[in-house]
Amino acid sequence: MKAIAVLTSGGDAPGMNAGIRATVRTALTCGLSVYGVKRGYQGLIENDLVPLLSTDVSNILQHGGTILHSARSEEFRTEEGRLKAAENLEKHKIDGLVVFGGDGSFRGANDLQREHGTRVIGVPSTIDNDIWGSDFTIGFDTAVNTALEAIDKVRDTAAAHDRLFIVEVMGRHAGFIALEVGIGAGAEEILIPETVTDIPEICRKLQRRYKNGRTSSILVVAEGDEEGNAYEIAAKIEACCGMKSRVTVLGHVQRGGSPTASDRLLATKLGYAAVMALLDDAAPCMVGVENGLISRHPLADAWTRKKGLDDLVVKLSSGLE
Ligand code: F6P
Repeated sequence: MKAIAVLTSGGDAPGMNAGIRATVRTALTCGLSVYGVKRGYQGLIENDLVPLLSTDVSNILQHGGTILHSARSEEFRTEEGRLKAAENLEKHKIDGLVVFGGDGSFRGANDLQREHGTRVIGVPSTIDNDIWGSDFTIGFDTAVNTALEAIDKVRDTAAAHDRLFIVEVMGRHAGFIALEVGIGAGAEEILIPETVTDIPEICRKLQRRYKNGRTSSILVVAEGDEEGNAYEIAAKIEACCGMKSRVTVLGHVQRGGSPTASDRLLATKLGYAAVMALLDDAAPCMVGVENGLISRHPLADAWTRKKGLDDLVVKLSSGLE
């Protein structure tokens, strides 16, 4: 192996830059040349590749976003798109590709290796933390801390006005962010897609707590909850028990910002591990961290296996009296 490429794909995640830096510097240390692909798979299809030297990744690890930019490429979902991508890799004599992204990005990478033999390594990077095979994904810790800081502020105004607030956090199919941030913020209830949301029961609990002296409450809801988004939940609560609320949707603010120390460390370990996996001829695989150790799993596990929630955290999420 002489040259590898690195790209970031799907929703960006704080820590991707630290991961790019580690990948580039590990590869250079091992005598490989490295290319950065702009805008994920779309850039690969359009031959938007730049050689990366050690100095090109200086002073980036503390920044959110991704210097390579990211995209969700529809064209790469087609065989024609993947053929163009493979031809461009061939032009640059690149024989290994490191993909920072989520399960959709890994699916594309797997297809690329199956159809064209490009060796691919996936590095789990999404604020949602919903990838089986790694205890944490790059960006999750930062997103949780960003949301936590915001909810602490909401708590101040909720308390001042004796109000019920419903705060929506990201997580289209998964409640990992909602659970951790909800527990950290002392939310009265946490609503996630993985568990049944019972609106009448939530109303009963809120009213019981008010009778016992509580004057304000915060509900944290994952955007993918089966009862709907924060506005829909607010409407259902009002229809059920007459309680009015204010809604705060945190949205994409959770995807930005300087990565936490944990995310920088995780990204650095995984960037290194990805290059080692390429050199060990372990592709296609995903690298992760499980119980503090680097692990490797088939890429397909990322979309065929479902990561479980922590049972204790789920139990605590229904709120303490
Ligand atoms: O997958 C990460 C994520 O941030 C989800 O939590 C969210 O639902 C989605 O991306 C938003 O994607 P987009 O930026 O394309 O709207």
